[in-house]
Amino acid sequence: MDAREMKIKAAAAALDYVEDGMRLGIGTGSTAEEFVRLLAEKVASGFRIEGVPTSERTARLCVELGVPLKSLDELPELDLTIDGADEVDGRLRLIKGGGGALLREKIVACASSRMIVIADETKVVDTLGAFKLPIEVNVFGLAATRIAVEKLASRLGLSGEIAVRASGDGTFMTDGGHLILDASFGRIPDADALAHELNAIPGVVEHGLFIGIASLAIIAGAAGARVMTA
Ligand code: A5P
Repeated sequence: MDAREMKIKAAAAALDYVEDGMRLGIGTGSTAEEFVRLLAEKVASGFRIEGVPTSERTARLCVELGVPLKSLDELPELDLTIDGADEVDGRLRLIKGGGGALLREKIVACASSRMIVIADETKVVDTLGAFKLPIEVNVFGLAATRIAVEKLASRLGLSGEIAVRASGDGTFMTDGGHLILDASFGRIPDADALAHELNAIPGVVEHGLFIGIASLAIIAGAAGARVMTA
């Protein structure tokens, strides 16, 4: 089974948790896009949902495929969010934001009664941090915020480059008009402490550590899909 087939398998298994009439948060990334494609087929056959997308990219795909959308302001309380992840540990703590949508993803997931993660086996780790941790920061004060993140990292015994994310010839901008710092920590022994302390840095808008948010993960591997619970 290739990587795309595993993503489709996880996405298809997640569809079983979606009930007719649900208010649904819809994630971002290649796995979430497989979910959107399968959801669109169900919608075309008469299934009713109202979706809130976590990025402009996801919104465009939903519109293209006929998945009905509302804004989060129109539907501020959601039943379920289905989203991908860059890393998942055994306690369902996640690193997200590889696609740059972490802020909206976290807002939408936290506005939902439940978040289900869909991913392939390669995303499951013992310790978070091999994937660069995305940290969304305000444009104003970038240098000062970066220094504050570096000092925090050093205090927590973390090392590694903290780089401003680039895109093509320029700097990557999020849907909210912010920048991303990608932190190559390699291993984050105390993700809870890092998450807590990053939130205290004024220029940090949000970070890609999702802790205590997901309650279930559907992990697809060569042998099929399995469920992990927190
Ligand atoms: C988007 O910002 C991310 O949080 C994605 O959910 C994450 O990068 C997973 O993407 P893939 O499904 O493409 O691996």
